[in-house]
Parts: sequence; structure tokens; C-alpha cells
Amino acid sequence: MPVINRIAAIHDDMTAWRRDIHAHPELGFQEERTSAIVAEKLESFGVQVHRGLAKTGVVGILEGAPGAGAIALRADMDALPILEGNDVAHRSTKDGTMHACGHDGHTTMLLGAARYLAETRNFAGTVYFVFQPAEEGLGGGEAMVKEGLFEHFPATAVYGMHNWPGLPPGEIAVRTGPMMAACDEFTITVEGTGAHGAMPHLGHDAVVAAAQIVTGLQSIVARNVDPLEAGVVSVTMIHGGDAFNVIPQAVELAGTVRTFKPEVRDLIAANIERVAENTAAALGTRATVNVEGRFPATVNTADETARAEAAACAVVGAERVHSDLAPCMGSEDFAYMLQARPGSYVWIGNGLGPGGCFLHNPGYDFNDEILPVGASYWATLVERELAADV
Ligand code: NI
Repeated sequence: MPVINRIAAIHDDMTAWRRDIHAHPELGFQEERTSAIVAEKLESFGVQVHRGLAKTGVVGILEGAPGAGAIALRADMDALPILEGNDVAHRSTKDGTMHACGHDGHTTMLLGAARYLAETRNFAGTVYFVFQPAEEGLGGGEAMVKEGLFEHFPATAVYGMHNWPGLPPGEIAVRTGPMMAACDEFTITVEGTGAHGAMPHLGHDAVVAAAQIVTGLQSIVARNVDPLEAGVVSVTMIHGGDAFNVIPQAVELAGTVRTFKPEVRDLIAANIERVAENTAAALGTRATVNVEGRFPATVNTADETARAEAAACAVVGAERVHSDLAPCMGSEDFAYMLQARPGSYVWIGNGLGPGGCFLHNPGYDFNDEILPVGASYWATLVERELAADV
């Protein structure tokens, strides 16, 4: 079964919705206009609407035939603080804010599925359409879970979908186990003794210590992490000094850690502390280390991934469904929903598009061609998982 005909018939409508949302991007927890549009559309389709979970979050509730089953489908709504580089009619109307991650498309695909499922109701039980705010680093998914998402809307499984540039349009990638990485952020303050740049022997140089710490941190993945496990340690900020002739008192370092397993995550955090503190001490300076967890890993459960794969195969054909793509070291706050309920997060191919650029690039744009494919995947997943008795 390819794309559902009744969904293909609303392709033009979905394209118009997607471009309207694209033209009016909103940052995390500020999705006032977007969530109002989502709520209004869901109501017009006959879907019951709950607003205000995690500030701008929206949940649609749709009952099919009587049945005890209940699943949740999640889309994200927020945009990024990026100046759009595209010259298209639906270009962002807000300078410095753009939908560079395709959340405009995710919202639209879930709306398309909601419209079809509300019209047909060819399922038994309950579907929850979860439109979350603030996926881009602000923890909207975590906020929804903490505010009782699954207590108010008792789904037994939760499913997510993200577009993926580089995967051909409409192809779908599924994977059991980790799909996206855990993200930690660290800061290191190196304190020395400031001195005249011409008389280094009168101080303890925090710049040299910081430089050696940056290099030393690269030994953690190379020498401490099991070579068969995945990990990334990237120093992404160095701040220190104000003058050519002054050795500063302190230097600040910061960066990110990505891992798939909690034990690797803990090992890296402990080693950042060890390397930074001891390297600093060896040079007569002192390092204060702070490692903070941001997102856990996004880990798909086996049963739900098998169900997601079956639905994907039904829509696009088994030859266009991949179960062997490598996971990504990026992170995703759908991870919090997967910690609360079993489920599966899939990628839908966005193609490379004219600019050939990846997510979070000023030249990125969601590919409207795949809107009916994604909406059909959602609808098919519901009709299979909550199959009505015939
Ligand atoms: Ni995204």
C-alpha cells in the first residue's frame, strides 16, 4: 500500500499549512501562533484539544471504535535562531528566526494524519496527537513528561519522526536501540596567577594550562573509552584574556559530550574531571569542572520498532525502509518520552534539496514532497496498532 489516497488528496492543503508555519517561525516555548493554528485545525477536524501542557504544548485526543488501546504520536513545533538564507515565497518573515530543522513539516504531517484519522476513524481505541514545544535545547519534551503527559493521556507507546536530509525523499530509517545520542555540557574554569606577558615566571599561566587541557581531553575517547563504544568530547568555547601583554588570571573552557550508554557517559564525565584537574595542577593552576546532563540518549524499544518498521514498509515498500543506517551523535528531547514509555523514533528522508544542506543550515528547507508520505506513515501506524475488529 503506497501513500493513502485520501491523504494524497490533501497534499496541497498540507503544503499551504507547512509554508505558512515556515513563514512564521517561533522559538521554543514561544510557539503561540503555531500552537493556536494546531489547536484550531484539530478542532475543525473533530479532534478534542487540550492546550497549555508545557506552556505552548498541544495534545489532540481522538477516539476510534471502542477499544482499550492508546498510542501517542509526537511532532515538534519550534524554530531556530538562524537568519534564513533561502529566497523563496514562504521565506521566514522574522529575521533571525527560521524553521531550519523541519519542525514545520513535522507539525504539518501530524496534522494531516489527524485530519484523515478523524474523518475515517478506522481504528479502535485512542490516539493522542502530541505537539511539543521547545525541542531545540530548551527541554519541551521533558517539560511535557514532567507535567504529566502520560498520566493525563495514558498512551502505552509513543512514536516520533524526524526528517533526515541525505536520505532520499520518502525513504524511512528505523533502528532498535540508540538512534540519537545523550548530550552533556561541560564547563572548566582554569584559574592561575595573572602576570605581565613579558614576565611569565612571575605567574602561573592559565592559557597554557587551558591549552594542554584541551589536548588532554582528546585522550579520553582515544584511551579511556572502549574502542567498540561510541563517544564524542568536543571543546567548543575558549574564553580568556583581554590584552596582548597580560597573562590572564583565568580561562573558561566549555564543550559537549555525546554518548549512547550511561556507563560511557559516566566514564567520560569522570575523566574530564581527572584530566582537567590534574593537568591544571601540574602547571600550578587550578581547574573547576562542571558537567551537566542535558538529554539522555534516544533509545528505541524492539517491539515498537518492529511495529514502526511494518507500518513504514506498508507505506513506502520494504526496499525503501532501512534498518541498517548508523545512529547519529546529535541529540533529541524525544528521549524523555522514550524514557517514560516504550516507543520508536524514525527518520523520513528529506532528500538533499537544491542547496544540499543539512539540518540547522540557513539554506535548509523541509521538502513538501514528503508530507503525504509522513502523514500516511502516521495513519498506517495507528490503523495497524489500533486495528479495529472487522
Ligand atoms: Ni529537529
